Amino acid sequence: MTAQRFIAHSRVMRALVDQVRRFARANANVLIAGETGTGKNAVARELHTHSPRAKRPFVTIDCASLSAALIDSELFGHERGAFTDAVTARPGRFEVAGDGTVYLDAVGELPIEAQGKLLRIVDDKRIERLGGQTTFTVGARIIASAGAGIEDAVRNGSFRHDLYHRLRVLPILVPALRDHPDDVLPLARYFVRRAAAAVGQPPPTLTADVIAALRDYAWPGNIRELRHTIERAFQAAGGGAITLDHVPMEILDAPALDPDGALARRPTLDELERRYIAATLRHVRGNQTEAAKILGISRKALWEKRKRYGLD
Ligand SMILES: Nc1ncnc2c1ncn2[C@@H]1O[C@H](COP(=O)(O)OP(=O)(O)OP(=O)(O)O)[C@@H](O)[C@H]1O
Ligand SMILES: [Mg+2]
Repeated sequence: MTAQRFIAHSRVMRALVDQVRRFARANANVLIAGETGTGKNAVARELHTHSPRAKRPFVTIDCASLSAALIDSELFGHERGAFTDAVTARPGRFEVAGDGTVYLDAVGELPIEAQGKLLRIVDDKRIERLGGQTTFTVGARIIASAGAGIEDAVRNGSFRHDLYHRLRVLPILVPALRDHPDDVLPLARYFVRRAAAAVGQPPPTLTADVIAALRDYAWPGNIRELRHTIERAFQAAGGGAITLDHVPMEILDAPALDPDGALARRPTLDELERRYIAATLRHVRGNQTEAAKILGISRKALWEKRKRYGLD
């Protein structure tokens, strides 16, 4: 499998890529914030691979899955015999990273006691293994990611504000996919190509109505949801063209009118009417009589609107 590419066609994402390239050359800590599935891990990787540290290790600490029991030895490492289970010495993650990058994934999930320990590491740049003789200087660059809730967590005290500000020297906000809809199609095509390449097939086409449906949907699960949708559609299509039959109903249905999603883009009334008609047509899988009935207009009026909006 070829290395993953970072797709960025929209203006918003091209600006993000510029920012990432600039931040990649710096040494200061970066905090990447954004909703679930927007590409925070992908951005962290980009920062590393475009940095002078690219040939050094990239070490992830998954803060959401660290049990209280594991945190200390993950962060600090331990000497042999430091505690009952410590049968061999083990370096901590910062030690393993050397002069590379430590990526603190989902840092907002770190328990409050561990936040204090991390703050000391970030401040002192020194680590001593548990039970230990070995002290070393942290040479790794620190990149962290956090969900959209991190600011609330800082405000209500469940995330230490001193640590937050230390990590957020260079802030990056990865936008929700609904805020860069121009990337939906390039991303979809990229995921189709990858899915096909993985099984040694030529990439199938996406029909025009599938493309319209993907564009109109608000993608609450962002790029990850788009990727999974495409991979499932590819499976369902069995190598042939991907049509509306291969796209789940909730995507065809959840139109245009969900106030947290598509409406947040403030479409014009015409645009909204176009999307609602398109979504209704998809819902009835193209049945004109049924669509007209749902929309409360005559078949003739529907025909005229379809012509006007170029919906066929
Ligand atoms: N710009 C992009 N181009 C191509 N693929 C991308 C891009 N951004 C994200 N992806 C893909 O989308 C999926 C989700 O991305 P990623 O895991 O980086 O999101 P995340 O913000 O870290 O998610 P979470 O909040 O769950 O941790 C991954 O499969 C990733 O490879
Ligand atoms: Mg992630």
